[in-house]
Amino acid sequence: MTLEFNKQTTDELEALCKRYPKREAALLPALRLLEREFGSVSEEGMKLVARLIGVSPATVYGVVTFYTHYRRPTDGKFMLQVCATVPCALKGGVSLYKHLSGRLGITNGQTTPDGVVTLKKVECLANCDNAPCMQVNDWYYDRLTLPVVDGMIESMRAGTWKPVRMGYNIPKHKYEPVLLKHVLEKDSETIAHYLGRGGYKAAEKALTTLKPADVIDIVKKSGLRGRGGAGFPTGTKWSFVPQASPKPRYLVLNDDESEPGTFKDKMLTERDPHAIIEGAMIAAYAIGSHDIYWYLRGEFPLGAKIAQQAVDEAYARGFLGPNPCGTGYRLDITVHRGAGAYICGEETGLLSSLEGQRGNPKIKPPFPAVEGYFRCPTIVNNVATIASVPLIIANGPEWFRKWGTEKSPGTMIFSVSGHVERPGLFEAPLGIPLRELVFDLAGGVKGGRKLKAVVPGGISSGVLTPEEIDVKMDFDSLAAIKSMLGSAGVTVLDETVCMVDTLWNTLRFFHHESCGQCTPCREGTGWLEKILRRIENGHGRPEDLQLLLDICDGMVGRTICVLADAAAMPTRSIVTKFKAEFEAHIEKKRCPMKGAAAPQPATAGAH
Ligand SMILES: Cc1cc2nc3c(=O)[nH]c(=O)nc-3n(C[C@H](O)[C@H](O)[C@H](O)COP(=O)(O)O)c2cc1C
Ligand code: SF4
Repeated sequence: MTLEFNKQTTDELEALCKRYPKREAALLPALRLLEREFGSVSEEGMKLVARLIGVSPATVYGVVTFYTHYRRPTDGKFMLQVCATVPCALKGGVSLYKHLSGRLGITNGQTTPDGVVTLKKVECLANCDNAPCMQVNDWYYDRLTLPVVDGMIESMRAGTWKPVRMGYNIPKHKYEPVLLKHVLEKDSETIAHYLGRGGYKAAEKALTTLKPADVIDIVKKSGLRGRGGAGFPTGTKWSFVPQASPKPRYLVLNDDESEPGTFKDKMLTERDPHAIIEGAMIAAYAIGSHDIYWYLRGEFPLGAKIAQQAVDEAYARGFLGPNPCGTGYRLDITVHRGAGAYICGEETGLLSSLEGQRGNPKIKPPFPAVEGYFRCPTIVNNVATIASVPLIIANGPEWFRKWGTEKSPGTMIFSVSGHVERPGLFEAPLGIPLRELVFDLAGGVKGGRKLKAVVPGGISSGVLTPEEIDVKMDFDSLAAIKSMLGSAGVTVLDETVCMVDTLWNTLRFFHHESCGQCTPCREGTGWLEKILRRIENGHGRPEDLQLLLDICDGMVGRTICVLADAAAMPTRSIVTKFKAEFEAHIEKKRCPMKGAAAPQPATAGAH
């Protein structure tokens, strides 16, 4: 059967295509339209999209199969995506998945015979403070228990299931929030609220009274460093855009937030989208760009809806469009949804995805600032970086330097998850001791248990022992002890946690998310995962510890992007700092944390 879109969808698609430099860039949104109109992405649908976008069906198939988030014709009415990555696993995410699998009689990716439910075990949903969690179609469900999920299944089968919108989790503490100041206020996502608190005045100031070079200078003086992971100085990055280039310039907002343990961007997007839009206006003006793309991860449908509503409001009030703040400096923002792939957070992978391709990273140099989106100068910034810009322009660089350290100024939104009394988002000055963050702000280890380890900057960072938690939470202090601040996703592990199991889970994540272009990453993450599986299941060999480290040596610095390095960093730190625990697994031929059960088959996929 040949499919066709109805008139409304056809018109929407045509309007969408006009928002990108090339028609093929609209491929991911076109697949979302296909999903919306026909309920799923079928092979016939792929042919339709290929014809309308002007690419081959094989290209569309290649793209669809790269991402995990598109609904397929065999999927059930309800898609249950259960997070089993480390922060959720610490709170029972894996048990939750196993319970659902047993109850429904299906395994990962399968659909119940009645076509009601499809079950998927997925990687981090950026909701770690509410672990264990799952997504049902477009909706998040927090802090789940087995009776609650049983009730949900009943209601799905009875046809009485109704979506529930979950609340937000920002514990009060001694530091005054700056970026998070308004996010819990009613209607904080609306333009009326934003204007009521002085919103868009900084953009007006920048666009009407400052030259682009002045804006860059102010941001440089503030010392703002990227909040997406690498901590690169923002103003300096903006200054890399070649002024003489005749090509169009682009600004891309990175809202792909997929680093396990990190959930700050989701909050800013859903509760303060106008701060992101205003920051984007200023940043685009500073780099000489007129076209801004706001790339959100596919798992944020609510965020995408709120972002689009906010963008529409900004157009309606004239902040976006041909004449922002009466300047005639055209500014357009296009909200673009990804489709489930961690690697699309890496800036060149993101740009590939935004070009309508598989999210494969590209070799640097050239860096995106010089040759990025469709080979034009492009700045990619994290949305929390961008949301900081209006405050810096409004209050000046010295105001921003009131917080933080000389080299890491400002506040940071720390995402704290795992075994703490009060998980959630904590905005605090950069440079506060990790001990203060865990034991004071987040209330200490849950239930008075002993601390075993802390992941300080997302799962890609080197794990710290209790002896190391006096480290200051800033970019340089963590780098000095061979870890990193990254995206400031702090996950706390108590004494009951098996570090071998935790590392196995971590490597399963990286192996799953490797795009596969580079052999050291594709094979290396797979080998690491397999070795950890055998150690955890009682089949480890004494030489395995050195083998794990040797494999890491073969991965670091040898690949297109740093996902391979990101997999090696926690591996090296856990294997060296918790060596005795690995040796105990190998000696006892079982996981000592799980009692004296018989060894599992070496191939068992307990996760
Ligand atoms: C594997 C990988 C995943 C990444 N994921 C994200 C992400 O989800 N969000 C993000 O902002 N940056 C992510 N980054 C960092 C980006 O590549 C890039 O440095 C960042 O968007 C730049 O913005 P900033 O300077 O404002 O931090 C990732 C990097 C790597 C290597
Ligand atoms: S390092 Fe891994 S994720 Fe990055 S490009 Fe190579 S294979 Fe892909």
